[in-house]
Amino acid sequence: MPTRYHPLLVALHWLIGIAVILALIAGIAGLEAMPNSDPEKVLALRIHMSMGIAIGLFMVLRLVTRLAAKSPPPAATGRSGLDRLARAVHVLLYLLVFAMVSTGLGTAATAGLFPIVFEGSGAPLPPDFSAYPPRAGHGFFAKLLIGLVLLHIAAALWHQFALRDGLMRRMWFGERN
Ligand code: HEM
Repeated sequence: MPTRYHPLLVALHWLIGIAVILALIAGIAGLEAMPNSDPEKVLALRIHMSMGIAIGLFMVLRLVTRLAAKSPPPAATGRSGLDRLARAVHVLLYLLVFAMVSTGLGTAATAGLFPIVFEGSGAPLPPDFSAYPPRAGHGFFAKLLIGLVLLHIAAALWHQFALRDGLMRRMWFGERN
C-alpha cells in the first residue's frame, strides 16, 4: 500500500479545495448579495459559472483517478466511530460538490443563462433566480457544504496538532513507498 496519495490526486485536492472555498465565499458575499439589475452581474456570473464548471470537470478527473490509483489505507485513529465518520464525510464531500455543480448548471439552464453569460446575447437577466427550483437546492447544498468543509479542516488540524500522526503528509507530494 502506498504511503501517499497519487500526485494527481494531491494536486487536484488542493486545487479543488481552494476553488470550492473561493466559489462559496464569492457565491454568498458577491453573487447572492448583488441584484440582477447590477450591470456587473453578468461578469460576476461568468466568473462564477466558469469556475463551477471547471470544479465539476476536475472532480470527475479526481474521482476517476481515485478509483484507478492505489491509495493509502483509511486512517485509523483507534476510535472506530470517528473513523467511520471520516469516511462518510469524504463520500459526502464528493456528493455535495457534485450536487453544487449540478444544481448550478440546472439554475443556469432553466433561467436561460448560457447565451446571456457566455455568448453576450444582450438579453436581460431574469429579475431574480428564486423562480427556478434548482436555485433553492444550490443555496441549501452550499450551507451543508460549508459545514462539511469546516468539519474536514477541523479534523485535519486535529490529526496534525493533537494526534500528531503526520496524516497530512499523505496529501502532499513525495516518495510514495
Ligand atoms: C462547487 C461548485 C459551486 C459552488 C461551491 C457554488 C457556490 C455558490 C454559492 C455559495 C451561491 C450563493 C448561494 C446562496 O447563498 O443562496 C451560488 C449562487 C449561484 N451559482 Fe453557484 N456554485 C458552484 C457551481 C455553480 C455552477 C457550475 C453554476 C452554473 C454553471 C453556478 C451558478 C450559480 C448561480 C446562477 C447562482 C445564483 C446567483 C444569484 O442568486 O444571484 N454555480 N453558488
